[in-house]
Amino acid sequence: VAPLKLGIAGLGTVGAELFRLIARQDKALAARCGRSVRVVAVTARSKAKKRGIDLRGVSWAKSPLALATDPEVDCFVELIGGADEPALSAIEAALGLGKSVVTANKALIAKHGLRLAALAEQHGGALNYEAAVGAAIPVIKTLREGLAGTEINRIYGILNGTCNYILTRMEQEGLSFDACLKDAQRLGYAEANPSFDVDGHDTAQKLSILASLAFGTKVAQNAVYVEGISSIAPEDLAAADELGYRVKLLGVAVRTKTGIEQRVHPTMVPRSSSIAQVMGVTNAVTIDGDGLTPITLVGPGAGAEATASAVIADIADVARGIRALPFGRPVAKLGTTRKAPMERH
Ligand code: HSE
Repeated sequence: VAPLKLGIAGLGTVGAELFRLIARQDKALAARCGRSVRVVAVTARSKAKKRGIDLRGVSWAKSPLALATDPEVDCFVELIGGADEPALSAIEAALGLGKSVVTANKALIAKHGLRLAALAEQHGGALNYEAAVGAAIPVIKTLREGLAGTEINRIYGILNGTCNYILTRMEQEGLSFDACLKDAQRLGYAEANPSFDVDGHDTAQKLSILASLAFGTKVAQNAVYVEGISSIAPEDLAAADELGYRVKLLGVAVRTKTGIEQRVHPTMVPRSSSIAQVMGVTNAVTIDGDGLTPITLVGPGAGAEATASAVIADIADVARGIRALPFGRPVAKLGTTRKAPMERH
C-alpha cells in the first residue's frame, strides 16, 4: 500500500514535536495503520530557526497554501494556529481538492468549522481536529463515536491547561498570577496570545466545539458567557480554601428548557469533589448522558507532546481510510443554539 504523504504547516512547539514523534514511531505507526506515514513537505515562518529536527529529504513549501495544494501532499496538517489566515485559505484549498486535513486549531474550528465541515463532506476528505480540545484526551472521538447512541444533557470541565496550571501553583505555592503565567508560557502551554487563555476565550472555543458534538447543534462560540481568571489573586484562593473550596475555571454546556446554555467562569468547587482534584496542566471533561452515571475523561490538556499525540491519532485515522463526519452528523442536520438566559442549576 502506498504511504500516506503528509504536509505539515507550522513547525512551532507542536509541529516540531509531531515531526519527532512520527520519526520515532515510524514502524509502530505503519503497523497500526497498515501503511507507512511520511512527512514529504513542510512550511513555517522561519526556515533558519533551530528546531532539533532532521528535515533532510523534506521539501519546503513557500506558503501554507502552496503546501496544501502540492500534488505530493495527501493530507494537510495545519499547526499554524489563529482563527483566520493563513490557515483558513490553506485548509479550504486542501478540502476543496478532496484532501484530508488534520488540525489542532480550536480557534479556527470554533469560528469556521461548520463551513469547513461542509466542504469536507462535499469533496470527500476528512477534517480531523482531536487535538483542538483537551490535547491528548480523546474527547472528540468519545462524543462523536463512543456516545453516538446517548442523549447528552450536560457537559462540563476544565478545558484550559494554562489556567489550571496557574490556579494550582497560585494555590499551592502562593505565587503571583504573572509568575505562574510566565512559567506556563515557558513550558509551551499558553497560546501565542495568553490573554486567550486567562480571559476564558480558549475555554469558550473548546466548549462551543464540545457542545456542538454533544447536542448536535451548530458551533455557537458567540453564545458563550465568558469570564476569565485574570483578576484572581492568591488571597482569593486562600479564602476559598478556608471555606473548603478550590477555584477552577470551568466550561459548562447544558440543555435547558430554553435552549443550550454555554458558560465559562471561575467556579468554587468543594475540595472533596473529583473536579477539585484535577491539578496542574491536566484537563477533565465530564459528560452527563441520559440513563448513565457521568463519564469523566482526565488527562494532559496542553503541551507539545500531549497535543502531537492527538494529531498523530487523527493522522492514523486518515491513513486507515476512516472518515468521520466532522461534527458527527451532516452539517445540514445540525440544530441551532440560541443564547439562553443564565439560569441557576
Ligand atoms: N493554551 C491551551 C491550554 C493549549 O492552555 O489549554 C491547549 O489547547
